Amino acid sequence: MEPIRWKGDRLELLDQRVLPEKTVYVTCRNAAEVAQAIRDMVVRGAPAIGCAAAFGVALSKGSQDSFEILAKSRPTAVNLFWALERMKKAKDLEAEARAIFEADIAANREIGRLGAELIAERARIMTHCNAGALATAGYGTALGVIRSSKNKNISVIANETRPYLQGARLTAWELVQEGIPCTLITDSMAGHLMSKGEVDVVVVGADRIAANGDVANKIGTYALAVLAKRHDIPFYVAAPLSTFDPKIPDGSHIPIEERPAGEVTGYRGTRWAPEGVAVRNPAFDVTPADLITGIICEKGVVLAPNREKLEALIR
Ligand code: MRU
Repeated sequence: MEPIRWKGDRLELLDQRVLPEKTVYVTCRNAAEVAQAIRDMVVRGAPAIGCAAAFGVALSKGSQDSFEILAKSRPTAVNLFWALERMKKAKDLEAEARAIFEADIAANREIGRLGAELIAERARIMTHCNAGALATAGYGTALGVIRSSKNKNISVIANETRPYLQGARLTAWELVQEGIPCTLITDSMAGHLMSKGEVDVVVVGADRIAANGDVANKIGTYALAVLAKRHDIPFYVAAPLSTFDPKIPDGSHIPIEERPAGEVTGYRGTRWAPEGVAVRNPAFDVTPADLITGIICEKGVVLAPNREKLEALIR
């Protein structure tokens, strides 16, 4: 699976809007086309957005315009801004974009290795959204932990992730291909399964981690963390250092993207809500640090994350 393919003079992005039915690539030849692809969810997932943006800057030879247009594409995942900052300082743009891409795969593999140490034999792992190969340069963060635990006879409960269905369409697809047992549920079934003792651990990704350990991730993550606490189920966040934003003091300062109403009132041309109804569609929520058992990054596992521990980690 190659979600992001660099071809020297163009970037090819696996079109995640039409997965799993169709495997087609969208070609981008400049930063504006990459920004459009990010905005339209052709490519999504925090690290993947960062990698695509880096290649976008390289395609437009680092023009001022390229930085501005890419910075406006999506607001929540900090990896985008982190990648743009790196590209601003780079001398060889293509080499830097490639380095960001390669380093993300390496970070994910390390996250997987470290995270797997926390996963018990036969664990039933719940995950939310898609923090897999599709959401990164490859291998995945939360799904990296799951991939690295494959030899432990684990199984996965994938939440469908309303409204955009990243769990049902993307995570389920990755796991079926990988031969990892996966059961799909709707988001509202999670609490019931936890109360029945059918979930051993929750592992999710992140879009931005504030200095105090609060985590922004796909909408619904906060509710899962509350449920996990209630049922004494460990709740882990897997994310590379490029997702940490030490400039943001706590989760309340993280910008939360509001997406179009049409994603809630229907899906792919089918409308089920009445015309005229008011709609909210925040794409992310914030899980407070005190609900998080541990954050798994390439530098180690931070148990019971807080400001002091994250400062020490990043230093
Ligand atoms: O709106 P999306 O699909 O870009 O949201 C993705 C998520 O929330 C992921 O959990 C997060 O980016 C981590 S991906 C390794």
